[in-house]
Amino acid sequence: MGVRIVSVGAYVPERVLTNQDLEQMVDTSDQWIVERTGIRERRIAADHEATSDLAYHASVRALARAGLQPEDLDMVVVGTATPDMLFPATACLVQARLGIQGRPCFDVEAGCPGFVFTLEVARAMLSLNNGYRRILVVGADTLSRITDWTDRNTCVLFGDGAGAVVVERHDGDRGILATVLGGDGTLGDLLYLPAGGSRKPASPETVANREHYLRMEGREVFRHAVLRMQEASLAALEKAGLRPEEVDWLVPHQANWRIIDATAKRLNLPPEKVYVNIDRYGNTSAASIPLALDEMVERGLLREGQIVLLVAFGAGFTWGATVIRW
Ligand code: UT7
Repeated sequence: MGVRIVSVGAYVPERVLTNQDLEQMVDTSDQWIVERTGIRERRIAADHEATSDLAYHASVRALARAGLQPEDLDMVVVGTATPDMLFPATACLVQARLGIQGRPCFDVEAGCPGFVFTLEVARAMLSLNNGYRRILVVGADTLSRITDWTDRNTCVLFGDGAGAVVVERHDGDRGILATVLGGDGTLGDLLYLPAGGSRKPASPETVANREHYLRMEGREVFRHAVLRMQEASLAALEKAGLRPEEVDWLVPHQANWRIIDATAKRLNLPPEKVYVNIDRYGNTSAASIPLALDEMVERGLLREGQIVLLVAFGAGFTWGATVIRW
């Protein structure tokens, strides 16, 4: 018995924020952003939109593409670092809006690799043989809400979005072949959100100190990302009994074009096997991989039997890679 992705859907907010727009906001340039990151524009949620809204729209699209109804789902799991609120979980808000009260719903918080972690949780749930047959797995983030729009070191990087997949128990050789997850909590302070949790609840001081915006040591994060994404990819491929040259598609977390390029080079994969859409969306955190999968399905790039390698790295630090026979 295996587990297979049977459908994909995605949603991005309408508003486009270009590098030229950012030039008006902070001391930066289109040239710097493109050369250092590969990003040209990103989407920003409307005032009335939060993570559960993006997640809901992506979920509806994933269900529609497979001809499924919400009632066909046994569970809703959302990977996000920017929930609508600390609780209830964003997955519960999505479940309610889908009208499938009664089904279990919870979030997985694993930073940018949130989708890879959530997918593995769903795979494990489906493998338990305890009655679950089909799970909605969502990666969604609204990083614009925790971005300091006066900090040029970080504000040029992020965008909002959501991607959703439906996974099912499945007999046959297609589906998830292997997953490797990892983490190193000792490096958590290289990328974190200081306030708003139980350590530092919101107060006039935390607001005045801009502690509700994420902080990142970009150069250090970059270094670890390249190393861990290579290691996780190789470990997942080995677990699946495959060699890097057997990969048809590398679908990496879209944090920086240079990280993607370095990862691909270390795996000896040519650019035509690497899916990149960071130019249009920036870093959408847990949404970036399912957002890429959705575009690839839409463009007819993913064909039955192809080997697809997903890999991500982010706050925690956390990292993970999944090998799929599509
Ligand atoms: O999702 C997972 C988590 N996040 C990541 O994976 C992000 C990882 N890190 C990165 O992508 C890169 O480190 C950044 C894109 C954040 C920065 O690129 P970098 O090549 O590491 O630049 P840097 O931080 O070393 O900065 C180089 C220079 C600095 O100026 P000085 O000190 O050399 O004079 C910065 O102040 O570039 C300056 N700089 C900027 N200049 C124009 C930093 N941000 C900007 C900017 N526009 N937006």
